[in-house]
Amino acid sequence: MTIVVAGSVMMDIVLSTERYPERGETVFGSGLRFSPGGKGANQATTVAKLGMETCFIGCVGEDAFGHALIDRLRGNGVLTACTRKTSETRSGTAQITIDASGENTIIVHRGANDSLSVEDIDACGEYMGRCKILLVQMEVPAAVTIHAMRAAKRHGATVILDPAPAGGIDLAALPYADIIVPNQQETKILTQIDVRSVDTAVEAALYLHRQFGIAKSIVKMGRRGSLVYQDGAHEHIPAVPVEAVDTVGAGDTFAGALAYALAKGRRLADAARFATIVSALKVTRHGSQDGIPDMGEVEAFCRARGLDWRW
Ligand code: RIB
Ligand code: NA
Repeated sequence: MTIVVAGSVMMDIVLSTERYPERGETVFGSGLRFSPGGKGANQATTVAKLGMETCFIGCVGEDAFGHALIDRLRGNGVLTACTRKTSETRSGTAQITIDASGENTIIVHRGANDSLSVEDIDACGEYMGRCKILLVQMEVPAAVTIHAMRAAKRHGATVILDPAPAGGIDLAALPYADIIVPNQQETKILTQIDVRSVDTAVEAALYLHRQFGIAKSIVKMGRRGSLVYQDGAHEHIPAVPVEAVDTVGAGDTFAGALAYALAKGRRLADAARFATIVSALKVTRHGSQDGIPDMGEVEAFCRARGLDWRW
């Protein structure tokens, strides 16, 4: 077992619209899609599609969405022995609206994700004991996330925290993270710093190091690329410009691809470079999980765009 992901799984209910409605206004949408998502499941799917063994610890409802979500995870090669079904609540859902520029808004109903428990983590001790990297986010109860982080650290694994979504951030988890990968919005909440440049990103990374003891961070800055910080040193990774059709799950693809490259032994900045490429390709395709490329597609993209990447 190389990578374990503990976190959320949801059915994304997606509509496209020319523009967002004003408050109290109705607009017509198009292209309704039911498409598997959830930050944890998206990250696990990224690792599996790239070709590495990964186990997903999560919880779905005993309903049609739950069955479809588990089927899709399996279909993409994710191990689901630790993905539980509960009859207590419905599967999590995310109502997503994508506008003409490819930007989105999301309303998450956590549903069964809230039923994920510390017992679920303990039940996966065997996988935890064998994993090199644990990936977590903030869409399931924070106490469960922290429990998973502590278990992974006890076993000597590296813990990557994607502090997303911004609304779910719980600072208590931070001291257990080895690597953190916040976007601009999340960085603002964690550090009160408005990241608008490489300099301000460095400032934020230094704050995360001093305040929470996180020696490695990647501050994601959208079109400005990302800032990789490690023990006082830093490196800017430029973005790979693409025509975006669906940015939903881009951060998850980044986190999954980062974990993959680190598990392969790459240094942090190189892993971030790879993650930047994989998530750029994702935003050119629809679907949080369906849009994640496999390794063959990543290699073809690199050739077509003249990107220098080799395994
Ligand atoms: O990060 C994107 C994901 O966030 C979507 O798939 C949606 O399910 C929400 O959890
Ligand atoms: Na994200």
